[in-house]
Amino acid sequence: MNLKSTNVVWHDGKVAQAQRAAVTGSTGCVVWLTGLSGCGKSTIAMQLEQRLISRGRAAYVLDGDNLRHGLNGDLGFTAADRTENIRRAGEAAKLFSDAGLIVICSFISPFAADRAAVRGKLADKFVEVFVDAPLEVCTARDPKGLYKKAREAQAQGRPMLMTGMDQAYEVPRNPEVHLHTDRQGVQECVEAIEAFLSGRNIFTSGNP
Ligand code: ADX
Repeated sequence: MNLKSTNVVWHDGKVAQAQRAAVTGSTGCVVWLTGLSGCGKSTIAMQLEQRLISRGRAAYVLDGDNLRHGLNGDLGFTAADRTENIRRAGEAAKLFSDAGLIVICSFISPFAADRAAVRGKLADKFVEVFVDAPLEVCTARDPKGLYKKAREAQAQGRPMLMTGMDQAYEVPRNPEVHLHTDRQGVQECVEAIEAFLSGRNIFTSGNP
């Protein structure tokens, strides 16, 4: 990104990562949930957050729908706006993970290049979780009635850029965790992510 700000300098803090980890229960990372609308991202995110917090690990959800109420309220669903949405979310997640939080990001994030750019900022602190459910399953669930709306809009010749219908979803090629929510329950999905995080040694000892 071209910086518009000039004459800015980076200020380093005086707190070591290990000191933060002693307070937050982990060294911090970003769990990035990607998948179609209705695949179960938000449900898994909220349950994972609750579970981590109950075990003494500071965790926080950044959810696409929620961020679009504030920070990203000026963005729509064109490809360019989605790219900017993911860029801002990635930057916010990086700050929170630096603070020692397990940041659980729940965004459709349909474009591989946008997800790769966030990974590039976070290196091994980025854990990509593909929340996989076939489009037919998401369409049948349609928890927000958006697929129905999108079909109606399409029929009237004014497509609403719905992911999987009139805009692409680029499937993750190499996610750290691949969930299948058409045949795995929420609990099983949460445990799979937690097991992966345990293997990464990001949790400090002393917590339950
Ligand atoms: S992303 O593609 O930019 O990552 P994000 O996850 O922030 O999307 O927001 C997706 C949410 O916006 C969906 O959960 C849904 O509630 C809502 N939404 C509204 N219009 C659309 C659309 N055209 N395509 C996808 N989601 C939409």
